[in-house]
Parts: sequence; C-alpha cells; structure tokens
Amino acid sequence: MARLDYETFLSGLPDAVVGVDEAFRIILWNAAAEALTGKSARRVQGRTLKEVFPPDSSLARHLAETLRTGESRSEAEAMIDGTDGRLVAVSIVTAPLARGSGNVEAAVAVLRDLSRIRQLEEEVQRGQTLAAVGRMAVGLAHEIRNPLTAIRGAVQLLKNELGDEARWGEYTDVLLKEVDRVNRILEALLDLGRPVQLKPRPVNLHQLLERVALLAEEMAASQGVRIVRRYDPSLPPILADEDRVVSVFHNLVRNAIEAMPRGGRVTLTTRVSMNPLFAKVDLGTGTRQLVEVQVSDEGEGIPEALRAKIFDPFVTTKQRGLGLGLALCHRILEEHRGAIQIESAPGKGTTVSCFLPIAK
Ligand SMILES: Nc1ncnc2c1ncn2[C@@H]1O[C@H](COP(=O)(O)OP(=O)(O)OP(=O)(O)O)[C@@H](O)[C@H]1O
Ligand SMILES: [Mg+2]
Repeated sequence: MARLDYETFLSGLPDAVVGVDEAFRIILWNAAAEALTGKSARRVQGRTLKEVFPPDSSLARHLAETLRTGESRSEAEAMIDGTDGRLVAVSIVTAPLARGSGNVEAAVAVLRDLSRIRQLEEEVQRGQTLAAVGRMAVGLAHEIRNPLTAIRGAVQLLKNELGDEARWGEYTDVLLKEVDRVNRILEALLDLGRPVQLKPRPVNLHQLLERVALLAEEMAASQGVRIVRRYDPSLPPILADEDRVVSVFHNLVRNAIEAMPRGGRVTLTTRVSMNPLFAKVDLGTGTRQLVEVQVSDEGEGIPEALRAKIFDPFVTTKQRGLGLGLALCHRILEEHRGAIQIESAPGKGTTVSCFLPIAK
C-alpha cells in the first residue's frame, strides 16, 4: 500500500482543519481552511493564530482552552471572518494532540461551513411550503370553479335578455371579463397544485431552448431585447418532461424580458454543473450528473427584501402579474429532482440557474 500522504489526505477534506502548537503558532491549514477564510496556507504558516483571527474569536478561544485543559471543545454554530470580510456560520470542534508524555503539544480544530447545509434546508422548507399551498389551492380552486361557472352562465343569459342596450352591455362585459380572469388564475393555481405524472424522456436541451426562444421572440422584439445563446455543444441529452421544462424556461425568459423595459440582452448559457451543491442527483436508478442552464438578464435586479420569498406563490411586483411563474418553475424542477437558484445584483441584472439531470 502506498504511504499515506497526510497533506493530500487533509487537502481532500471538505471541512476546514486548523492546527496550532503550544505557542499557538499555526502548523496546519488545509485547502478547505484556505477556501473558508480566503487566507492561503503559505501566508498563515508559522504565524500565531491571534495574528490571523481576533483573540476573542470562537476559534481562538476554543483552541486556547483545548491547549490549556487538554479537553475537546465544540460549538454548534459560531461566526468567523470568511472571504471578502463576510461572516460565515460554522460549527467548530477542537481536539488536543498529545504525545506519549501525556502533555498537550498541539490542538486541532475542524470547522464545517454551515451555509451549504442552510441552503439545502431552505430548499426543503420551500418545497414543503409550496406543496402545502398547492394542496390548499387545488381544494379552493375546485370549490370556486363551480359557482363561477354558474355565475358566468347567468351573466351570459342576462346579457342576452338585456339585448343591445349599450349601457347594460358594458356591465355584463365587465362581469364576463373578470369572471374569465378569475378562471385563468384558478387554472394557473390548479396547474401548480395538481400532482403530475411526469413523462421524462431524453431531451436535447438546446432544441428545447430554441423552442422557448421562438415562443418569446415576439415579446423580446417588441421590447428591444436580444436573445444571446452560449451553449456548450458537447452537452448530453437531459432526462426531462419536455413540455414542463419548456414552461420553466418560458417563464424565466419572460421574467427576464419584463425586467428590461428599455431593452437589453437575455443570455441563455448551458454547461455541465460545476456547482458543488448541485453536481449530481440520485434518481433511484443510479446517480446522474446535472447540467446547468442559466437565464441572465441586464434588468433592474431583484430587491434584497423580495429575494427570500420569490418562489412563494402570489409574490409579484407587476401590475398584471400573478406571481405564479417562479413558484411553478420551482415545482417543475423539483419534480425533475433538479434545482433552481437566483442571483441578483440590483441595478445590474439577474441570473437564474436551473439544474437538470442528464439522461444517462
Ligand atoms: N429576471 C427578473 N428580474 C427582476 N425581477 C424579477 C425577475 N424575475 C422575477 N422577478 C421578480 O419576482 C417576482 C415574481 O416572479 P414570478 O415570475 O413568480 O411572477 P410574475 O412574473 O410577477 O407573474 P407571472 O405569474 O405572470 O409570472 C416578479 O414580480 C418580479 O418582481
Ligand atoms: Mg413571471
């Protein structure tokens, strides 16, 4: 067996490992520690931890105590300075290292970045909320549909009875138009809440996106928006229900166009996913790689306050919007065991990333 190379071993760990000697000098700093703190091993090696982290920081405190007492310390959630001065939530566990003599000679800390776990938890939470809202909406929609059909029928009769007199005609037309609008909302809601039988097949993603581009062409042209393609031609087919996925990207492209009333570019990018959170998925019939499709615009962006609830139904800032587009996209990607993520810089634009499994 090849000799175990600790450096390689440590650098492959997803958790940050930091070690200090008795004098609190840094003797261990793996690749994950570099990524988490934005400080390279070369820069910190040999310096004392207190030069790198404030002495009152959780990490320094726990390591100091472990050195002093020879006991392990842990904290479920601590904040440390991450890259770009951002605070990162981590869990910390420390352990003493002692040689034969029993004296503590060093201490190590293992730090686990909690933000990824949080993100996954939020995903799950969001899915559950949507499912509950969906079920309620379906029940409600069914209850409302029948009386609404009766109202529509009665108004139609009334309209016929009242004959041609323009004054009444105006009223009955408003009634019919509004009843139809409520019906359309109900249809959209039913679409969201209805359990669907997915028909996934291998689908050429780029042909699918071209279908979407064609659907959005007229709307884009009328607003001076150009659709730019950045396709990775080597991409394998995806496993998807084509019509459902078309409606995902149609919604996203429509949102992108609507975000640019003075024109601009919508960019469609495809590639094999390099996102560590969404790289692979287990479909029960084996693990599949995920591909990423990005829909980017140069619009006004999404205000910070709106971002947390953007996938909830009925969240809209548009006069004629239902706020169901993104809720539906989320639902459909979940059905495909994929994922959806939004990044937005107010004033600069928005990028929505969708992750979908490849066919094999
Ligand atoms: N690309 C984008 N740029 C800026 N804001 C966006 C973008 N996409 C979505 N939003 C914001 O998120 C809200 C919700 O979007 P969603 O697609 O769910 O509903 P909607 O577009 O308002 O209505 P509809 O049901 O017709 O899609 C929008 O009203 C808008 O404020
Ligand atoms: Mg929309």
